Amino acid sequence: PYANMTDNFGRDITYLRVSVTDRCDFRCTYCMAEDMTFLPKKDLLSLEELERLCSVFIAKGVRKLRLTGGEPLVRRNVMELVRQLSRHLESGALEELTLTTNGSQLSRFANELAQHGVKRLNVSLDTLDPSKFQEITRWGELSKVLAGIDAAQAAGLHVKINAVALKGFNDHELPDLMRWAHGRGMDMTVIETMPMGEIDADRTNQYLPLSQLRAKLERQFTLNDIPFKTGGPARYVTVEETGGKLGFITPMTHNFCESCNRVRLTCTGTLYMCLGQEDAADLRAPLRASEGDELLSNAIDEAIGRKPKGHDFIIDRRTNRPSVSRHMSVTGG
Ligand code: GTP
Ligand code: 5AD
Ligand code: SF4
Repeated sequence: PYANMTDNFGRDITYLRVSVTDRCDFRCTYCMAEDMTFLPKKDLLSLEELERLCSVFIAKGVRKLRLTGGEPLVRRNVMELVRQLSRHLESGALEELTLTTNGSQLSRFANELAQHGVKRLNVSLDTLDPSKFQEITRWGELSKVLAGIDAAQAAGLHVKINAVALKGFNDHELPDLMRWAHGRGMDMTVIETMPMGEIDADRTNQYLPLSQLRAKLERQFTLNDIPFKTGGPARYVTVEETGGKLGFITPMTHNFCESCNRVRLTCTGTLYMCLGQEDAADLRAPLRASEGDELLSNAIDEAIGRKPKGHDFIIDRRTNRPSVSRHMSVTGG
């Protein structure tokens, strides 16, 4: 009964990721430079505009919607957007409404999220060592994030832990982090760092191919590949010893682009058809040009028609610059 959007490679686009703000209360060293400049507030779409855009996407075939950032929970009144979007869950048009968050504000928002039909949350957490946590986030407090995770679980939300694998920083700790997550009934995914945007560190030194992590884990644990799918890019295994699931997100070593089902909308109304490409479409102009949705719908069709076959993540060895100059926080992971 629902419409669908298909790109030129036959991929159904059913997953919209919306970066509701490029701002964040942390500055993870692999994600941002310390002196990041953020988008001017005047360029932001209002929450009403974001909601209208999302609704058009849902009418066109999006079944899964994830709010990201930056940190989505630092956007003022974001709960109002969640509330509005939850109507699409009630109508059945949307299957899943979810968020990816750093967890710092979850103690405050967990109950409301659950009330608005959110069932699952992904929380980014790269280490359980308080001083290392502070180091990687530049000033974050681990205890707040842990309290946020407690609040989310107490509210009945399923939490998944996302950890970026960073060579020499958390690679030794990842087995313990996994044990901890699984011990609390949470799945975990590990992510390869992607070269997006200038940061203060050298990305080539941080990069850890997850095949190495897997080999290391297999010395301690029994991993069984499973076909489990969430609509995201992770490939999952079950871990016999813990009973939990572990997902590997390996854009650098294994291209999952052939089954890509997603596009990304920024808080200024720019649509990125791929995380790892510069090409984008402006949806703000057609959004504001008319009260009807036809112009917008045409602009979306035109953009989906340009969705590339795959990403273009490389680090130019000559300049040492990433091929994608915008930060993850602009496009929302
Ligand atoms: P689930 O619904 O739990 O499967 O989550 P998800 O993996 O779709 O979303 P999440 O925000 O947890 O994404 C984790 C990370 O995966 C993101 O921050 C990105 O780093 C990476 N990722 C997600 N989608 C893509 C993609 O299309 N391309 C690339 N290169 N990386 C992606
Ligand atoms: N490469 C891979 N993952 C990244 N994240 C932020 N920057 C990068 C990067 N350059 C992760 C965060 C969070 C998710 C939204 O994206 O840790 O889990
Ligand atoms: Fe913020 Fe997430 Fe980037 Fe860290 S990785 S600075 S928490 S957006």
